[in-house]
Amino acid sequence: MSRKMKNKVLENLTIERIASEGKSVAHYEGKVVFVQNVAPGDVVDVRVTRGKSSFMEGEAIKIHEYSKDRVDPFCQHFGVCGGCKWQHIDYKLQLSYKRQQVIDQFQRIAKVAIPEVMPIIGSADTQYYRNKLDFTFSNNRWLTREEIDSGKDFERNALGFHIPKRFDKIVDIEHCYLQGNISNDVRNSLREFALSNGITFFDMIKQVGVLRNLIIRTTSTGESMVIVQFGEDDKEAIEKVMDFLKTKFPETTALLYIVNLKKNETIHDQEVITYYGKDYIEEEMEGLKFRINPKSFYQTNSDQAYRLYQVAREFADLQGDEVVYDLYTGTGTIANFVAKKAKQVVGIEYVEEAIVDARINSKINGLDNTLFYAGDMKDMLNEDFMAKHAAPDVIITDPPRAGMHEDVVNMLLKLNAPKIVYVSCNPATQARDVALLAEKYQVDIVQPVDMFPHTYHVENVVLLTKKS
Ligand SMILES: C[S@@+](CC[C@H](N)C(=O)[O-])C[C@H]1O[C@@H](n2cnc3c(N)ncnc32)[C@H](O)[C@@H]1O
Repeated sequence: MSRKMKNKVLENLTIERIASEGKSVAHYEGKVVFVQNVAPGDVVDVRVTRGKSSFMEGEAIKIHEYSKDRVDPFCQHFGVCGGCKWQHIDYKLQLSYKRQQVIDQFQRIAKVAIPEVMPIIGSADTQYYRNKLDFTFSNNRWLTREEIDSGKDFERNALGFHIPKRFDKIVDIEHCYLQGNISNDVRNSLREFALSNGITFFDMIKQVGVLRNLIIRTTSTGESMVIVQFGEDDKEAIEKVMDFLKTKFPETTALLYIVNLKKNETIHDQEVITYYGKDYIEEEMEGLKFRINPKSFYQTNSDQAYRLYQVAREFADLQGDEVVYDLYTGTGTIANFVAKKAKQVVGIEYVEEAIVDARINSKINGLDNTLFYAGDMKDMLNEDFMAKHAAPDVIITDPPRAGMHEDVVNMLLKLNAPKIVYVSCNPATQARDVALLAEKYQVDIVQPVDMFPHTYHVENVVLLTKKS
């Protein structure tokens, strides 16, 4: 059945709803069909790209009827760039789909009683909401079907984003609505400067080329960090590029570069050289300062991160005499954010540099009631740790998409804190973990928060309290 279905065209399917991971769902002869880049309410012909015994996947090749919920995408790169896949759906509806995802995952996976899910907290800004973007230089620009068919020659150098699932193809970005401030200007000016000065763009197959990657980070206080990654140690070209940026964008507060001669673009193991200004930027929240260095993690939507942390703090409802554990603390942002209202906060995280930042952040904010430890959660949170530290009154946990390791969940059950605030960027794994915690805990509040407009991603905060 499955092989036979591949490439078959299924006609006039009505897109019914959006399921987990933003997939649109239709049915064909009783079987689920997942379709890309459509909206609920569309009526489409679908070419099957993958057929399995329980479901099919496909792409819409003809749209007979457009959903009334569609809106015009505002970005010229929509549909090619993988960045904002939901621009064609009204933002209010995006929010309701996200909330529904949370409800579905808790019903399907957690299978525990939950109160009515709170209305999702939407993002006041639905454009220019990110504080960090990562662009790639390539000599292999993605060409559209029309460009290829025209038979003309085109500039093949590009500076932009990876085409989804294509590591070697880059869509050249003229304007990106994700990051404001100097972001678009820096990217476009640097591309123009490189092209007019014959500075080479990276070849991902041959692993040669001077310009490799550009990271731009901004803060709500107006600071900005620009990091250029070079693929060759060409001192003259490096000097030329960095001097251009320094002169053209003197408002940049941290102008940095990296000479990266290894196979991938990740920077965690690379030396970062300060060309001009400081080697960090600082974000501010309620008067607290958060130092962000080139390798630090910081939530990418600062305004919504603030809302998220407020929700977590509200749920924790601290009176001043509690011991709080902040698990998966990153650079200690939540730990430091709640510290003034707690007796002590203990943060754990496995990236050592992040723990160094977490301690610096406590120090520059005059907080002396925080303790931070680096290590894998499942090894750190053991009997020994419990013996050495006061038992927690509140546990705040914010794991990565994979959720918590089962050993960690079991340890949480042993720690027996009266309250757990579970922050998650993946309601499916959160629901799985909550099902295990249900042995001792009940779900009191479920609060989704939108951090990433125009994407299917949803953040969700759950308050768990001990069953009486
Ligand atoms: C979603 S982030 C949370 C960051 C932080 N709460 C914040 O808001 O900035 C998850 C964090 O968990 C860390 N992490 C992932 N797996 C881990 C593990 N096994 N043990 C400890 N920390 C881990 C990651 O490095 C990351 O900093």
